Amino acid sequence: LLSETDLAISLYVLAAFLGYFFLSGFIWGAGFQPTPKKELDRVAQLLQLKQGTTVYDLGSGTGQVVIHLARKYKVKCVGIEIDPLKVLITKIRIALAKDVKNLVEIRRANLFSIDISKADVIYLFLSGGTSIMKNLESKLLDETREGAMIVSYVHSFEDWSPALSMREIKIYSLSNMSEKRREK
Ligand SMILES: C[S@@+](CC[C@H](N)C(=O)[O-])C[C@H]1O[C@@H](n2cnc3c(N)ncnc32)[C@H](O)[C@@H]1O
Repeated sequence: LLSETDLAISLYVLAAFLGYFFLSGFIWGAGFQPTPKKELDRVAQLLQLKQGTTVYDLGSGTGQVVIHLARKYKVKCVGIEIDPLKVLITKIRIALAKDVKNLVEIRRANLFSIDISKADVIYLFLSGGTSIMKNLESKLLDETREGAMIVSYVHSFEDWSPALSMREIKIYSLSNMSEKRREK
């Protein structure tokens, strides 16, 4: 049985853990909320995701997107996450899941500093209240490969119209944006 001290320590650890998740949104930007799996299935259907596709989740949180898509659709997934605790949690989930180990790669990095040129699909569930979406526009226009698709859950790009949208899912096709690429 737990002694009073053990119980007090456990409660402190739990409170610190919960506090971290609450505060990490302020520290690293965007919250903790993962995309619901049924929404990811909708995205997979809309994009007709299939084996061989490479999906980047920019701001991959605790790994819901990369693990679900790799497991169910056998796509190759790269998750980029700035918060070290979430990276650790994702790595533990992947190690425990076993079946996705060869399909998923997780990197602790700022999404603005990574190479996205190998992505066929870029998935985003970021924050609408900050400038992050606006700041991403030029990186996406400059660095994504021709034909890549961008999916943003909940938040929209101010200056772009989605090629397809279903409730909270907005899909942007970069081929539609070749004019914008030329404008730059
Ligand atoms: C709302 S969560 C979404 C998690 C996951 N993509 C999903 O849909 O389930 C957004 C994540 O983006 C991360 N994030 C915010 N700014 C970032 C940045 N500049 N570079 C990398 N990750 C970032 C946050 O730490 C958070 O974990």
